[in-house]
Amino acid sequence: MTKQEEIQRLKEEKDAVILAHFYVEPEIQEAADYIGDSFKLSRIAKELPNQTIVFCGVSFMGESGKLLSPGKRILMPAPDADCPMAHMVTKEEIERAREQYPDLAVVCYVNSTAEIKSWSDVCVTSANAVQIVRNLPNRNILFIPDRNLGRFVAQQVPEKNVILVNGFCPIHEAMKAQEIEDLKRAHPKALVLAHPECNEGVLAAADYIGSTSGILAYAKESGGEEFIIGTETGVLHELKKQNPDKRFFVPATPPVCHDMKKITLDQIIHVLKTGEHGADVDGQYATLAGASLERMLMLAGRTEGTEAFR
Ligand code: 13P
Ligand code: SF4
Repeated sequence: MTKQEEIQRLKEEKDAVILAHFYVEPEIQEAADYIGDSFKLSRIAKELPNQTIVFCGVSFMGESGKLLSPGKRILMPAPDADCPMAHMVTKEEIERAREQYPDLAVVCYVNSTAEIKSWSDVCVTSANAVQIVRNLPNRNILFIPDRNLGRFVAQQVPEKNVILVNGFCPIHEAMKAQEIEDLKRAHPKALVLAHPECNEGVLAAADYIGSTSGILAYAKESGGEEFIIGTETGVLHELKKQNPDKRFFVPATPPVCHDMKKITLDQIIHVLKTGEHGADVDGQYATLAGASLERMLMLAGRTEGTEAFR
C-alpha cells in the first residue's frame, strides 16, 4: 500500500478530512481533500461536519481552526511548523496606539498567534483585508503584524489613517525586485502576480496583487499566457494543474517557506493513527481571539476574491 493509499484508508476509518495550504509540498496538496488560502481554509474547517481535521499548515492556522471550532479535533502533522511573522508585535505597541487614538480599530492579519488575536478587534486575511478595513467605521486603524500587507491596505483605502508596526514575512520580504525586473526583461509579455506580503519594490512591479487564491483566479481568468509569480513556490503546483498551457516563472532566488515544507506524508499518517499533536489554544485568549476571527467571517460575508486589481 502506498502512503497516499494508507492516508485514504486512515481518513475513512477516523472520519477525518485533510486541509492543506497552497504552500505545502505538492504531494501533501495531493493528499488533501481541500486546498486553499488562509481565509478559505479557516471557513472550511468551521463548516465541515467532520470532527477530526488534519491541518497541513503552520501553527496559527491550526489555532484559528480550533478557535472557530472548539469542539473539533484539529491535528497538526508538523507541530513545530510556525510562522515567524505570527509573533512580530507586542502588547505594548497596541496599548500605546489605543491610548493615542481613542477610536482605534486594531486589525490583525490572521498570520498571528491566538494571544495577539485576543488583543485585536477584528482579524483579516490577505483575501479580505482591503474590504474589511474599508467598511470599518473607525478612521484610525492599527494594522498588525504585517507592514507590507498593511501598507498595501493603506494605499487602497486612503480615507483611513493606517498605522503600521514592523512585522513582515521573511520569505516575501526577501524577494528581490531586481530578479522580477530580470524576468520581465526575459519574458516581456509575462504579467507579474504578487502577494501583498511582498516588499514595496516587488509590489511596485506587479500587475496584480492578491492572496494565493487571488493569484490562482487571476492566472486562470486572464487572457495572458505567461506569468511571473511573486509568492511562495508551493502555489506553482496548483497553477500548473489549472493552466497546463500557460507558463509560470519564479525569481532566481525561489521564495520557499521552510516551515510550510516541514509537513510530510509520514507525519500525516502518524497524527491520523495516534491523534497526537492536536492544536490547542490557551483558555485565557480563546474567547477574545475567537471573537476577532468570527467578526472577520461576518464582515467578509460570503465573498471570496475581494482583492483589489491595480
Ligand atoms: P494567504 O493564504 O492568505 O494567501 O497567505 C499567505 C501566507 O503567507 C500564509 O501563511
Ligand atoms: Fe509565515 Fe511567510 Fe511562511 Fe506564510 S510564507 S507561513 S507568512 S513565513
